[in-house]
Amino acid sequence: MAKYKVLVVDDEHLIRWSMERNLTKAGYEVECVDCGEEAILAAESKIVDLVLLDIRLPDISGLDVLEKIKKFNRDISVIMITADDAVTTGIACMKAGAYDYVIKPVDFEELKIIVEKSLETASMKSEFMRMRHEQAAESQFENIVGKSKSMQDVFRIINRIAASDAATVLLQGESGTGKDLIARAIHYCSARRERSFTEINCAALPETLLESELMGYEKGAFTDAKTAKKGLFELADGGTLYLDEIGEMKISTQAKLLRIIENKRFKRVGGTSDIDIDVRIIAATNLDLAEAVREGRFRKDLYYRLKVIPVELPPLRERREDIPLLTDFFISKFNREFKRNIKGVTAKARDLLIDYPWPGNVRELKNIVERAIILESDEEILAEHLPHEIRNKQILIEKTPDIQIDFPDNGISLEGLEANLLKKALDMSKNNQTKAAKLLGLGRDALRYRMKKIGLLE
Ligand SMILES: Nc1ncnc2c1ncn2[C@@H]1O[C@H](COP(=O)(O)OP(=O)(O)OP(=O)(O)O)[C@@H](O)[C@H]1O
Ligand SMILES: [Mg+2]
Repeated sequence: MAKYKVLVVDDEHLIRWSMERNLTKAGYEVECVDCGEEAILAAESKIVDLVLLDIRLPDISGLDVLEKIKKFNRDISVIMITADDAVTTGIACMKAGAYDYVIKPVDFEELKIIVEKSLETASMKSEFMRMRHEQAAESQFENIVGKSKSMQDVFRIINRIAASDAATVLLQGESGTGKDLIARAIHYCSARRERSFTEINCAALPETLLESELMGYEKGAFTDAKTAKKGLFELADGGTLYLDEIGEMKISTQAKLLRIIENKRFKRVGGTSDIDIDVRIIAATNLDLAEAVREGRFRKDLYYRLKVIPVELPPLRERREDIPLLTDFFISKFNREFKRNIKGVTAKARDLLIDYPWPGNVRELKNIVERAIILESDEEILAEHLPHEIRNKQILIEKTPDIQIDFPDNGISLEGLEANLLKKALDMSKNNQTKAAKLLGLGRDALRYRMKKIGLLE
């Protein structure tokens, strides 16, 4: 096994000599320097696992050296050596980021134990961090299911976005299509993953609160501002800021947001000095932003700025091949969660799930599987376990009256019959397509498709 490397920093020759001797004997590789300047150089340019640092050096104070080394490499362990046994000195060392401190004259047995412990902690910490990152990245992608071509395209784009550091991303898609999930995956797979993922729902706060939440404020900026407060832009510095439901943001806030994105700097509310930030913005909306721009509800310039990298999440009804896959995925997820052992869905239930138009998209499917697993005790999910709106079609087929028709000699047209029924349903529902579709056991899209076919729609 490779030896740990210890850097000894002390201006007294005798101490350097005895440290080197004792630590080499204990199995470490040792390098010695006699001033702060050289210590910083050595810690920055070489692989060093641990630094034993004298607090009083001829050139720079040991505490300053500690700070510089830590800035460069957070994970390096530093143990301070001090001639002064005042508690305050020890506290100052720990506050500045030292792992521990020893008091001169150094007791080598004690030092060896501290060195060992600190290296153990550091290696556990780095192993833990490595595992956490791997898990985070893996679980992010494992949790996104989709084999349809449109989802495969989405995966390709988000992989590329995560690998690059392109500033802004716009996620568009109906409610429940997975925008939150994708936003997180982008963050945790990007180089920013060690920094924070901060999110805010732009629709949840009134305009003035949203601004102070985003930009923070100075003491006295308004009546309640008793102390200054950092905004989310500052808190997200170096990381990702997820602006959910951006379509609901008021025009005046949009203007401010655009300026911040373009200048990468802003002022707190009531503040005078600029604060620089490096934040990746991921914005999401389930509205048609292009339409909002046409109607003057969303700023065109901000729209184009956000849309540099657009990601379109397709509704579930346009990728029906993902439905069985997602169903199985949620069954095993909830089996684990609720300690159940449901094997799958029956063929009939699966067909109903595939046919249903899923206005609530993946979220709706997930909820339905969860409900079935909690409530039902069969081994499989049966058609009867599914909610009424999904079984509707089956119920309608079963309940459709046996209409008696006397076929004329030259027959009748099935299409003509369909057209008549369609018109009748639209009449009865006073042209409300959703209601008419329900009467016919169709989704709204299917109804519109049939209306087009017979010329009732452009
Ligand atoms: N492709 C997918 N694979 C697995 N789970 C998914 C997928 N898409 C969405 N989900 C799950 O569906 C639920 C809804 O997804 P999410 O919250 O990301 O939707 P959204 O687009 O942000 O919706 P809204 O616009 O309503 O906020 C979540 O529990 C999410 O984990
Ligand atoms: Mg969402």
